[in-house]
Amino acid sequence: MSESDRTDKLRQIKDEIVNLTQSPLYDYRVKNSYYPVIGQGSHFAKIMFIGEAPGENEAKTGRPFCGASGKVLDDLLESINLKREEVYITNIVKDRPPENRDPVKTEINLYAPFLDRQIEIIQPQVIATLGRFSMEFILTRLDAPEKKMKITALHGKLIKAQAAYGEVQVVPLFHPATALHNRSPEQREILFKDFEVLKQFV
Ligand code: URA
Repeated sequence: MSESDRTDKLRQIKDEIVNLTQSPLYDYRVKNSYYPVIGQGSHFAKIMFIGEAPGENEAKTGRPFCGASGKVLDDLLESINLKREEVYITNIVKDRPPENRDPVKTEINLYAPFLDRQIEIIQPQVIATLGRFSMEFILTRLDAPEKKMKITALHGKLIKAQAAYGEVQVVPLFHPATALHNRSPEQREILFKDFEVLKQFV
């Protein structure tokens, strides 16, 4: 698919989400003058990162991972010499849930088809999931045998799966926010160590 086809199709997704009045998060977006967060990065990215849902900073700017978790993600990318422009970063849910609560099933189900389309357009070789929700979502979508396993067992592993466009490797990672919440240097170390598995695709 050409660059302009990809750009057109991704723009179409953006337009649909901007006008997604049936979303339970739509009124909250409008009331707060928030933006939906569609995704950012290369339309030809080899590696796609998928988080959960935008937080406040993201909803205020329309850019994924631009707050405290984003700083951790930037450090992780830098640790393997990857630039944001070279990867694609998005979330399952494209609007901010109130008070950063976890996304609920109905929200995930509503926004998931947009993510499916983004994956089909970008056709990444590697999908790095950030956190439990996106890991469960992606492994289930790809019907991987590991789909019922816990993130504590799968983090940092390379899982081969079959997408409609070909083979894809899934790398489950803990959410970057875990390095903040627990204020845990150990958790940060685990994230950096797990991230190294992506080096081979850089
Ligand atoms: N957390 C996420 O899961 N996604 C973002 O874009 C920001 C924080």
